[in-house]
Amino acid sequence: MKKNTFFLSIVLFLVFNGCQFKSKSRVEKLLSQMTLEEKIGQLNHLKGNYSTDIYQQNLDLQNEIKAGRVGALTPWVSFDQLISWQRTAVDSTRLGIPLVFAADVIHGYRTIFPIPLAQAASWDLQAIEKAERISATEATAAGLNWNFAPMVDVSRDARWGRCMEGGGEDTYLNSEIAKARVRGIQGSDLRSHSTMLATAKHFAAYGAIEAGKEYNNTDVPERVLREVYLPPFKACVDQNIATVMNSFSTIDRVPASANSFLLKDILKGEWGFKGFTVSDANSFLELIPHGIAKDSYEAAEKCLNAGSDTDLWGQVYIDNLEQLVCDGRISEAQIDEAVRRVLRYKESLGLLDNPYGYLNPSRLDSVLLHPNHLEAAEELACKSLVLLKNEQTVLPIKKDGHKTIALIGPLAHSTRAKNLMGNWSGFGKAEDVITIYDGLQKHYGMDATILLAEGCEDWGICPENLISEAVKVAKKADVVVLAIGEHGWHSGECGSRTDITLPGDQEELVYALSKTGKPMIGLVFNGRPLVLTNVEPHFQSLIVCWQPGIMAGNAIAKVISGDFNPCGKLPMTFPMNVGQVPIYYNYLNSGRPKLDSEDKRWGLNAYSDSPNEPLYPFGYGLSYTRFKYGEVRLDKPTLNTNESVTVSFELSNIGDTPGTDICQLYIRDLVGTVSRPVKELKRFKRVFLQPGEKKQVEFELNIDDLKYWNHNMEFIADPGQFEVMVGTNSACTQSNSFVLTKN
Ligand code: BGC
Repeated sequence: MKKNTFFLSIVLFLVFNGCQFKSKSRVEKLLSQMTLEEKIGQLNHLKGNYSTDIYQQNLDLQNEIKAGRVGALTPWVSFDQLISWQRTAVDSTRLGIPLVFAADVIHGYRTIFPIPLAQAASWDLQAIEKAERISATEATAAGLNWNFAPMVDVSRDARWGRCMEGGGEDTYLNSEIAKARVRGIQGSDLRSHSTMLATAKHFAAYGAIEAGKEYNNTDVPERVLREVYLPPFKACVDQNIATVMNSFSTIDRVPASANSFLLKDILKGEWGFKGFTVSDANSFLELIPHGIAKDSYEAAEKCLNAGSDTDLWGQVYIDNLEQLVCDGRISEAQIDEAVRRVLRYKESLGLLDNPYGYLNPSRLDSVLLHPNHLEAAEELACKSLVLLKNEQTVLPIKKDGHKTIALIGPLAHSTRAKNLMGNWSGFGKAEDVITIYDGLQKHYGMDATILLAEGCEDWGICPENLISEAVKVAKKADVVVLAIGEHGWHSGECGSRTDITLPGDQEELVYALSKTGKPMIGLVFNGRPLVLTNVEPHFQSLIVCWQPGIMAGNAIAKVISGDFNPCGKLPMTFPMNVGQVPIYYNYLNSGRPKLDSEDKRWGLNAYSDSPNEPLYPFGYGLSYTRFKYGEVRLDKPTLNTNESVTVSFELSNIGDTPGTDICQLYIRDLVGTVSRPVKELKRFKRVFLQPGEKKQVEFELNIDDLKYWNHNMEFIADPGQFEVMVGTNSACTQSNSFVLTKN
């Protein structure tokens, strides 16, 4: 038996290593046959819709491909066009190396899911992974095999429009979501033709841009970079992500595309990243306005030397690398290294064996908008809605056949259906969206009367006549459901705002309707935390809906009627006013901390004109039921570095509705060699309970959860006391503590 196992191990070893050897030699063999120009071509990525691109206007794309000067394309074109380009690459170039086709499939291809920030509000890693799996299935059926996702930028600044693309303000939550997304996009086998390359972006600390202003610079010390912004990228690398995209901004004054500390030392060095990097759109060329290159020649030199592998749309490499080699400024071996990384992934995708594997149009119709995909999109939309307020239990509105609901607001109206999809939904179609009106109508049927009024136009402009019409409609109803907020294009890339209250005159609409005295339910649509301080008191109930995707209407109707009990929790703090921004739960205590309960402000770490506390904290979200947390117990009062500690507590559903709470565990290192945050999320769990049911909830913490970058920039845990906090949101926790001893 032992002998058999031994033989089996030898055979497996030989097969496995043989495969590796075979695959390595194939890439190397190809590389050895390539001319310098062909190699550089593999690092050049062009746009498919080139006629609209300023840098590509004079290019004949077919000729470029034929000359072996293109490695990848971002298509946005018909299937037939993709096949024709691939045919040119395969049949008309000397070595027949296939193209990769890439796009931003950020929250769905045709089945548009809630925006990523909304998905993060579900804290449901399985559902997020499933959403990515579905998106990849649809995108690959359309011929794509490289996704510019996931965006894993931690963001603490609600002014930044792109916080809609990420997992919010917390590093741990972002990292867990990042792993789920990579698993969903890349699957377990890149050759399967329903999986694609994933891209961790934007490397790094793009979420830290100053003042939340798009394309701005960052000022992040290395410790904060490593502690807050890098872990989600590291999580992607540990998950074998294929590609990493540079950020547009500077880190320590050096643009990310030319930042060898980030790319060489950390990404490829410390982390051993085996994939290839890609610039952001034209970001190599932007070294010129950044003021660190005088022309594209110098930009190419700096980017390649820093470890940037491929050029997205800027044509900086294709125009300059050959000359740079001739001039002895870079070596061909450096180019080989970048090309090797690209070819490895062309091989992993199976393209070297079957260049047309992804180009099979017959899959498309059966895959897009498949009923299972719609079901998953609806489920995730339900889970991402966050109930902020529910006074006098105005919600749910039971299907009892007696109620007249006035559905009001610019985002309730069917002509603005597209806005419910969110910013990165380029392959989605407005006609697929279930509007809130349609959702409520279908859901309530004869069990309620739904009246409709617009209230405001696009961009939140509310003329007198629309407001008075809305007031008239509200007066005829028992309850007002008001759909307000941002539409999909208020956030996203170039969606930075200095005023993050409701856009336009929507606050006026709220005040006018509130005067009717009818109970008010607010549905807030948003791609970022909004300042709702003025309007919040006018609502009895308030639900954060984000941009929920094409199943918006169904999900919202289910929550309003109580068929789905809300369980989403905020992945970003909702500020009281824009002056508090950046605001986040895991701040440092300061030397003069102010307690929440204290009235006194003078001499303390406080504002003179605003509370320190946000309107709603990180992790916050209500349910139609109520949960009670029992005391926090630890299985040991002390632990050494080889041990783990089990944290447990009893969770009870003390309401009369089945429901899920997302239990959150935070720690605080009370004394470090540098100041440590007042709280850090370390674990979370979704727990479902029937009314009256109780469950023991357990979390295990180990030494790695206690580590941080200390004063010497070592990643270690300090012996000493740690506080453990458990609760339903970051501001409502119960605690216990343990001591970490020296071994
Ligand atoms: C964005 C990237 C995106 C790229 C390609 C850039 O402007 O910053 O996130 O992947 O465009 O669309």
